[in-house]
Amino acid sequence: MRELADKTAFVTGGASGIGFALGRAFAEAGMKVMLADIETDALAGAVANLREFGPNVRGVTCDVADPISVERAAKASYEAFGNVHVVCNNAGVAAAGGIDNISLDNWRWVLDVNLMGVLHGIQTFLPHIRAHAEGGHIVNTASMAGMNSGLGFSPYSASKFAVVNMSEGLAMRLKPIGIGVTVLCPGFVRTRISESGRNRPERYGPTQTPDPESPAAALTAQIAELVRSGLDPMDVAAQVLAAIREGDLYVFTHPGPSWRAELEERFGAILAAMDKAAARE
Ligand SMILES: NC(=O)c1ccc[n+]([C@@H]2O[C@H](COP(=O)([O-])OP(=O)(O)OC[C@H]3O[C@@H](n4cnc5c(N)ncnc54)[C@H](O)[C@@H]3O)[C@@H](O)[C@H]2O)c1
Repeated sequence: MRELADKTAFVTGGASGIGFALGRAFAEAGMKVMLADIETDALAGAVANLREFGPNVRGVTCDVADPISVERAAKASYEAFGNVHVVCNNAGVAAAGGIDNISLDNWRWVLDVNLMGVLHGIQTFLPHIRAHAEGGHIVNTASMAGMNSGLGFSPYSASKFAVVNMSEGLAMRLKPIGIGVTVLCPGFVRTRISESGRNRPERYGPTQTPDPESPAAALTAQIAELVRSGLDPMDVAAQVLAAIREGDLYVFTHPGPSWRAELEERFGAILAAMDKAAARE
């Protein structure tokens, strides 16, 4: 979608971090922006901040894990701004723990937000974008954790692998009808993702923190530090806007050699297994 000015963007997780930066970049590009977020106070602050960058910014409280809440937020957006063209399914949470020591509550919370939340956004907005036929683009926020399994946050990685896969499939289906799809795969970005527990609904039980002496706690602290010293979210947003304009499927914000080496190792192992299978034939 080359022309963004005067179009409308809907951004989940828009009260903080990458979502907020996307909102700001869209507002600066002359778009109307609806920020949707579960954290109502932070959302109000974000909307007030963004009005500095564009006149047409609104906020709507929304829990992406709940399809009815997403439908309601979409309706609020149509009422405020008319047709929606760019949908960023960006809200996400992380919970610490590897596959052997993470609770089912944590699994459900992370999958409900990171995976089902993306699906709810697609199911809600895709029929609308198809119907108005003014062009559209769907941006799904995954992560480098959706490209390699080394992070050690099992539900997080599983959700992000699924988002990558879903986005690839969606891109193939929507290309012939001129709707773009981008899957955003950042490395570490300076946001509040390490404080995800602040938005954990009570239905998933209390926030669980790993035993301070455990390897999971050490890993959590290490990742929090990498996030603190991560990329500026505005750099990520600029890359997403470029991808929307160019129609790019993948956005990799961290092209450095160590990230690439991890991908090469994974793909190399997969291809080696294919070779082994071929040799058996
Ligand atoms: N920060 C990083 O290093 C990094 C790296 C890769 C991917 N990501 C992804 O980027 C996306 C944005 O996260 P961020 O890093 O900006 O973190 P953040 O915590 O700063 O922002 C996430 C936003 O999502 C909102 N949110 C949480 N649960 C929600 C729900 N159920 N419904 C609606 N909104 C909800 C939060 O209130 C918050 O405003 C996430 O999908 C995350 O997984 C982040």
